Amino acid sequence: MSGGADAAGGSPISGGPIGGGPISVGLIWAEARGGVIGLDGVMPWHVPEDLAHFKAMTLGGSVVMGRKTWDSIPERFRPFAGRENIVVTRQADWSADGAHVAHSVADAIALAASLTPGERVWVTGGAEIYRAALGDAASDAFIVDRIEVTEIDADVSGDTHAPEIGAGWHVETADPASDWHVSRAGLPYRFLRYARA
Ligand SMILES: NC(=O)c1ccc[n+]([C@@H]2O[C@H](COP(=O)([O-])OP(=O)(O)OC[C@H]3O[C@@H](n4cnc5c(N)ncnc54)[C@H](OP(=O)(O)O)[C@@H]3O)[C@@H](O)[C@H]2O)c1
Repeated sequence: MSGGADAAGGSPISGGPIGGGPISVGLIWAEARGGVIGLDGVMPWHVPEDLAHFKAMTLGGSVVMGRKTWDSIPERFRPFAGRENIVVTRQADWSADGAHVAHSVADAIALAASLTPGERVWVTGGAEIYRAALGDAASDAFIVDRIEVTEIDADVSGDTHAPEIGAGWHVETADPASDWHVSRAGLPYRFLRYARA
């Protein structure tokens, strides 16, 4: 997930809508070398183009995130506008303005799908929630069929890492097709879209 996505402009590209059957779920994150996605509760870099990409992919749909990721978003950017925000927590009494609450990843995905029918549900982190969506929480009710990764070509210290993308996935598109974009903030980056092999 790209905290502060609303700080940046969006492109007209959209992540949905999609058809019937199990709920289509996408995972979206940005990672530095070694799969680093976070440090001390925040994303340890600034790549505004990634924030714009995050906004473009998720706008009009629902975003599912862990409570720690919600906490990591600056207050002025949460909830993410133009999206239903669902926060997963084990705390029975947790609430926040603008956040729908769920107590399991599966419940959060089902709620998300009901709030924005026909739209892909986006799981926007963090590491615990990505892993649950790909593993423990998996069920017949939903299928993770897309992973959007913004790779940042930099060594960054981190304490939170992206899940491994297994052999059952392949890179469907890369932007740019080879080499890297260079952010106006200076770092090289590229967008990879993974689909099921
Ligand atoms: N680079 C990126 O794109 C990106 C995207 C997102 C996040 N991040 C970074 O990732 C870090 C946060 O990730 P994280 O893995 O530490 O935390 P997280 O996944 O955001 O949230 C973990 C919390 O979610 C709740 N939770 C987890 N599993 C649950 C389950 N099965 N049922 C109910 N609730 C559950 C718990 O909340 P309670 O403690 O309230 O019970 C848990 O403490 C931050 O540094 C953030 O900046 C980076």
